[in-house]
Amino acid sequence: MNFQLTEEHLAVRDAAREFTQSELLPGVIERDAEARFPKEQIQKMGELGFMGMMVDPKYNGGGMDTISYVLAMEEISKIDASASVSMSVNNSLVCWGLEKYGTEEQKEKYLKPLATGEILGAFCLSEPEAGSDATSQRTEAKLAGDHYVLNGTKNWITNGSSASVYLVIAQTDASKGHKGISVFIIEKGWDGFIIGKKEDKLGIRGSDTHSLMFNDVKVPVENRIGAEGFGFTFAMETLNGGRIGIAAQALGIAAGAYELAIAYSKERKAFGKPISQHQAIQFKLADMATQIEAARLLVYKAAWLKDQGEDYAHASAMAKLYASEVAMNVTIEAVQVHGGYGYVKEYHVERLMRDAKITQIYEGTSEIQKIVISRGILR
Ligand code: CAA
Repeated sequence: MNFQLTEEHLAVRDAAREFTQSELLPGVIERDAEARFPKEQIQKMGELGFMGMMVDPKYNGGGMDTISYVLAMEEISKIDASASVSMSVNNSLVCWGLEKYGTEEQKEKYLKPLATGEILGAFCLSEPEAGSDATSQRTEAKLAGDHYVLNGTKNWITNGSSASVYLVIAQTDASKGHKGISVFIIEKGWDGFIIGKKEDKLGIRGSDTHSLMFNDVKVPVENRIGAEGFGFTFAMETLNGGRIGIAAQALGIAAGAYELAIAYSKERKAFGKPISQHQAIQFKLADMATQIEAARLLVYKAAWLKDQGEDYAHASAMAKLYASEVAMNVTIEAVQVHGGYGYVKEYHVERLMRDAKITQIYEGTSEIQKIVISRGILR
């Protein structure tokens, strides 16, 4: 068993760390306050190769492994979880599925610009009445000759207005349940495709979350990914990998808050010495460090299994479940270590605490992860 990162892994981590300090940290508080999407920053992330890290270089990707991806996700999430969710969706939920199941034409047309970050992608599964219960899709696509006619509404879509390409899951045959669900590539600007309300969120406020409406949108048959009826499996497989990205995001949020708590505890004096010299704080820091390390091992293990070509569905659910709990616990404790300063925006930890909560909700709530894990262990 080798716990050591390679030279390449360390280089990716250093590049991401450098980028966060020079490009993401300045302005992150303002972007959060104004709920402003980090557009220029995401563009630069594309130029640096962070938006299609695992895609084959023949489709303009970085050709890197999943460990490199989680290292970059972790670093970027320490500073700006709004930027990292955009990165995670583009890499894991959009590029991955297109590369694995798309036709050559789809890859040429859509994957290539997505992998460079020239354009952004969105993954559209959730609906007003189909969140955890993803089989209950109401959005429907009806075949009409050489195209489908798409109707329905999607909710809570990350990159909702910033994306150019949307992978949309829709019912093509309601009588077949989950086997009657298919997946389509939709372009922004097509007739009948309306970008709806922007959500005003507790955390990841810089990320651009919208509802989307499809009113008789004409979708060419060649924009279906895989066969009719393949959409639900496509979504589940995509989410298995997506959960590694979100687990890495949760890990980064926790690690970011922990690093701030360590630095603050060495600086802040109370009762005649730095608070890091008080056992009450030391015990908190020790608990935070231990939980983060355990989460990191689960996240890296899930990434490693994926890179080995092994089954990683339940490992990624475990990593996401645990890392998101750690993100919540650690950020709450980091605020506590900061005392009153932790409750104000300029110390960053209150934002990380708000950002942490979503990691227990999106790409499957904690309860959904437990369903996936228990199915894996009872199989
Ligand atoms: N991996 C691969 N296949 C899976 C799977 C998995 N993790 N989970 C289920 N499947 C397959 C099953 O094997 C089954 O296939 P067959 O019929 O061929 O045997 C099929 O899918 C149906 O499975 P179930 O009968 O288990 O389906 P279910 O209705 O009981 O639901 C569920 C399963 C796990 C609860 C699923 O609905 C689920 O994952 N829900 C959560 C959805 C989710 O995570 N949404 C997040 C939205 S995306 C997002 O948040 C992105 C963002 O913006 C950041």
